[in-house]
Amino acid sequence: MGHSSTNVRPTVADVEAMDRTDPLGHIRDAFALPPGVIYLDGNSLGPVTHAVLAAVEKTAREEWGRDLIKSYNDAGWWQLPVSVGEKIGRLIGAASGETVACDTTSANIFKLLHVALDLRPDRKVIVAEGQGFPTDLYIAEGVLSTRPGKELKLQGVDAPTIEALLDHTVAVVLVNQVDYRTGVRRDIASLTKQAHAVGALIIWDLCHSAGAMPVDLNAAGADFAVGCGYKYLNGGPGAPAFIFCASRHLPHVNQPLSGWWGHAKPFAFEPGYTPDPGIRRFLCGSQPVLSMRALDAALDVWRNVDIDAVRTKSEALTDLFIQRVEATCGSYGVTLATPRDAAVRGSQVSFAHPGGYPIMQNLIARGVIGDFRAPDRMRFGFAPLYVRFRDVFDAVEILRDILTRETWRDPQYQTRSEVT
Ligand SMILES: Cc1ncc(COP(=O)(O)O)c(C=O)c1O
Repeated sequence: MGHSSTNVRPTVADVEAMDRTDPLGHIRDAFALPPGVIYLDGNSLGPVTHAVLAAVEKTAREEWGRDLIKSYNDAGWWQLPVSVGEKIGRLIGAASGETVACDTTSANIFKLLHVALDLRPDRKVIVAEGQGFPTDLYIAEGVLSTRPGKELKLQGVDAPTIEALLDHTVAVVLVNQVDYRTGVRRDIASLTKQAHAVGALIIWDLCHSAGAMPVDLNAAGADFAVGCGYKYLNGGPGAPAFIFCASRHLPHVNQPLSGWWGHAKPFAFEPGYTPDPGIRRFLCGSQPVLSMRALDAALDVWRNVDIDAVRTKSEALTDLFIQRVEATCGSYGVTLATPRDAAVRGSQVSFAHPGGYPIMQNLIARGVIGDFRAPDRMRFGFAPLYVRFRDVFDAVEILRDILTRETWRDPQYQTRSEVT
């Protein structure tokens, strides 16, 4: 490594002291993290816990292998979407019976946009973020293709802010609590109130906030929410997503993917569709039991976790990262692409650099795993359950070394993979 930057405060000793007094420090032991890796990509794919490894093994060997189809009843497979939904509900401020785990975030957005348009039949506009996660917009396009006369208005295209798009033509607002690329965090209560003031409904995409910070949907009066199970909830690749529906709306919602798992009496095998009276009505067909079980076990890590402590640590980790990158790498063309104010930031930090892609590949080769989002963002996620202050310190030292010696220019780091 080049000249040491350990004289810049905080020092190694300082960050080690922060880890020793971290009230969440012991939870890292629940995770089966590979040695020598600094994992800063839990905002894309959370790591596996020991409990998940055991639960998947047991479900495959005993429940499926030995007990076969009896496990739908005896091992609770049929109820998993609801029991897993309950565990998620506790992290997002939902009441019992308002959250179900199922399908993907994309599919769940499809269901909820249709539901919201049906609840506001005299209104034609869906409002969304022009720079939001693309699947949200792709799905909105798909919904519009089946609903003549409805239209999409975008922040950044039709007006500079979501607030400026709110009027009495708006049926529903689809918005992220934390932006996937910039990490900008919105205030759920305030925007929900403004949407309601014009009579619109609101769907919150919690992909980058559920499990990263306190979320209180009911305190905010939120209508609907979606989120994924594989980021901060650590449910594994392709884990089931979730839907939140406020209980006041539940009796009135009819989602269009009206498959048999959402039927009131699925085993009556009636020809006509009658939705389940409760949250199960958001289900479509057979759910992936192995993945559901992985998510189920992953959620147990939250049992004794104080979510306010998670947020406090998240702010401290991201502050430390920003401070150290700017102090030690600032002269190498990295610029902060995330709010400096922790209050309006999620649990991730993005830095822009024209060589963002190869620099990230070089970091990964050196054991610091983050990711890259086009056109030039290096994105680093700080999941407080297992990222240590020392990890932040070491990651920045490695980044500084890569930038100082320009090792990222090596041809091996220039080829783009399919997944970035
Ligand atoms: C904000 C946001 N919404 C939706 C998705 C996609 O979810 P899914 O692949 O479960 O449909 C992602 C994935 O990263 C995301 O970040």
